[in-house]
Amino acid sequence: MTQDLRLTIAAELERARARTTLLTETVDDAELVRQHSPLMSPLVWDLAHVGNQEELWLVRDVGGREPLRRDIDELYDAFKHTRSDRPALPLLNPTEARAYAGQVRDKAMDVLDHVRLNDRPLVADGFAFGMIVQHEQQHDETMLATHQLRVGAPVLEAPSPPPARSPVRGEVRIPGGPFTMGTDTEAWALDNERPAHTVDLPTFFIDAAPVTNAHYAAFIAEGGYDDERWWSERGWAYRQKAGLVAPLHWQRDGDGWAYTRFGRTQRIIADEPVVHVCYFEAQAYAAWAGKRLPTEAEWEKAARWDPATGRSRRYPWGDESPGPEHANLGQRHLAPAPAGAYPLGASPLGVHQLIGDVWEWTDSGFHGYPGFQVFPYAEYSQVFFGGDYRVLRGGSFGTDAAACRGTFRNWDHPIRRQIFSGFRCARDAD
Ligand code: AVJ
Ligand code: FE
Repeated sequence: MTQDLRLTIAAELERARARTTLLTETVDDAELVRQHSPLMSPLVWDLAHVGNQEELWLVRDVGGREPLRRDIDELYDAFKHTRSDRPALPLLNPTEARAYAGQVRDKAMDVLDHVRLNDRPLVADGFAFGMIVQHEQQHDETMLATHQLRVGAPVLEAPSPPPARSPVRGEVRIPGGPFTMGTDTEAWALDNERPAHTVDLPTFFIDAAPVTNAHYAAFIAEGGYDDERWWSERGWAYRQKAGLVAPLHWQRDGDGWAYTRFGRTQRIIADEPVVHVCYFEAQAYAAWAGKRLPTEAEWEKAARWDPATGRSRRYPWGDESPGPEHANLGQRHLAPAPAGAYPLGASPLGVHQLIGDVWEWTDSGFHGYPGFQVFPYAEYSQVFFGGDYRVLRGGSFGTDAAACRGTFRNWDHPIRRQIFSGFRCARDAD
């Protein structure tokens, strides 16, 4: 491993830890151990789990060092206890969890200083370190979602996202033909993004921007939640059972709507992408609009395919890593940005805000690509293949750039809306 790569890794680990610290130090110990929703772990569980994964992979596996706390592995194994059971476990308390994560980090930095970086696939190009950076950032996004669910005075602050620079509306036509989906070359891409393979798609149309609050409010105003025609059978059953009437966190406000974000209530902003909808709501909206959700392949072609060269880019704007001018990522803002806020982040064909702002529901289940190989552990992706999940793409305002790229795949149950999920629509070309 080159010295440059070591420095990059150290900086990325440091950046992730600064975010974890912010998310766990802005609330008191009682709030760290409390369960804010049965869907979420107590924040103190995420904190020690992040440390435990780092111990398992960087300290023990890559470093070959002695375990620090083998006795707690079981408590922080996500497959051993459901989120709702975690508060009752004999977890490390906040002081212990912070100390543990810090001790693991010290050892991991020592491993980074001494490891030979290219003698095993696990460490080639710093992969195991990149995987742990992404893991911590993913849990940071989960912790941010927990903050959104917590009740009480606001504790997080951030500047408002940039305003719209140009109006972005309507659809973009994506010409039919083959494109390369997935990657063989992205060093820190996870196993489910590999291998690169060719997918041939017919011509389709995709929305130039995510569906906004104003669009979504029109669907509500026209009785969309009460009209079974727009819903799938499962979606309608869930809408009835859960009593869905609007996105999570929306409340009636006179003749309009307000939402509560990280403890602050305000009127909805019309041209901001709608967030906190489940797959079934996204699907119903799309049917009402005379459209459908894009498949995962359609989303990725819209995001990566460059018609001038025929090659797939790392990001819609090119191969350059995301900067603040390209996309709303990394909790820099605590809300999605209005449609048109990132003209420099658009794809060659003019599709905007594919990266950042809101995770976008696709119509695809979660499966391995042709030729998929587990790397390095089945419990990251493979055990979820074929389950009751829908793939989400593109990342949200709460996703860090380290855990977001044109090939990155997220997945969740179709009923979930505590995540920062929105969508855009697509349709066949006739
Ligand atoms: C890819 C976001 C679905 O949070 O369940 C974190 C990421 N995997 N720890 C999740 C993950 C193991 C995962 N998602
Ligand atoms: Fe995890």
